[in-house]
Amino acid sequence: MNKILVTGGLGYIGSHTVVALQNAGYEVVIIDDLSNANVDFVDRIASITNVKPSFYEIDLKNQEKVNQFFRENKIDGIIHFAAHKAVGESVEKPLMYYRNNLVGLLNILDGMKDFNTDNIIFSSSCTVYGQADKMPIDENTSLKKPESPYGKTKQMGEEILEDFSNAFNKKVICLRYFNPVGAHSSSKIGELPNGIPNNLIPYVTQTAAGIREYLSVFGGDYPTKDGTAIRDYIDVNDLADAHVLAIARLLENKNKTKLEFFNLGTGTGSTVLEVVHAFENANNIKVNYQIKERRLGDIVEAYANNSLAAQELNWQPKISLTESMLTAWEWQKSI
Ligand code: WQD
Repeated sequence: MNKILVTGGLGYIGSHTVVALQNAGYEVVIIDDLSNANVDFVDRIASITNVKPSFYEIDLKNQEKVNQFFRENKIDGIIHFAAHKAVGESVEKPLMYYRNNLVGLLNILDGMKDFNTDNIIFSSSCTVYGQADKMPIDENTSLKKPESPYGKTKQMGEEILEDFSNAFNKKVICLRYFNPVGAHSSSKIGELPNGIPNNLIPYVTQTAAGIREYLSVFGGDYPTKDGTAIRDYIDVNDLADAHVLAIARLLENKNKTKLEFFNLGTGTGSTVLEVVHAFENANNIKVNYQIKERRLGDIVEAYANNSLAAQELNWQPKISLTESMLTAWEWQKSI
């Protein structure tokens, strides 16, 4: 049985990916520093799959601890989620983002080199494209300067992985997510933001739950059908499935080049107001919102051309926005 290390495996996308990996028959070991995750997710995952993943609380910036982990665990493949990911916070604390996101990655790569792990999936983001000139965005779309230090750490991470792959003959897939939404159908795992949510859907669900007075819609004057910005909202369970397909591609040596990139989105753009109304209609609940100024650093529009992932990973998103809004609300009500 292949043993897969999932860093950040107690986080939002990480925990859903651990469930999907276990259901696919992989042995999973998690490293998480619990800076943006809850240790009770280990038991929550086990309650879904009936298999308790082994868990190490390690800060990936601690190279000695990382090396100790690799000495104790023979790892066949790595899915690397562990990173800080709040766009706004990264603007306020760039050095913390560069240190955490890049040193953590470098220590993992040193471990791969020194302990003979050949396969890694990197959690990247559509933010590396900046505001792309044309839609939908495909993997050949030229990268622009990201709007935030968070986005720059993703772009730098991809560049580091290119040189790492070439120098040490390692197999790498970078998965560029669009906007992850939804929760597991069991309502045992989901998005658990610390403090005031940065992302749209947790803010919507907390508003519906009465935790927030109203949702601020950042910008009503964009050049779009209803004046609000467009994104590609992809269900987290579909994202998790793509990670299982991607790690299998590397383990079975089906990759065409040592370094590959895949966009993970639905291929459909939705405005902020379309998402709010989808949530209201799915759950038959009203969401108070007010149109406010645009948020600094936001782009107008981003949605994916996902045909390369369909062709090479045999991956198709299956879960509709409505279904994602239902699971997001069920999860919010359960916490
Ligand atoms: C989506 C839309 C906001 C909150 C970022 C990263 C990406 C990924 C997801 C980590 C935008 C609007 C939001 C609110 C709003 N990172 N919005 N009111 O900025 O597209 O992507 O987060 O997983 O890499 O770049 O996501 O959810 O913050 O915003 O109107 O209270 O919702 O302006 O148009 P974003 P988001």
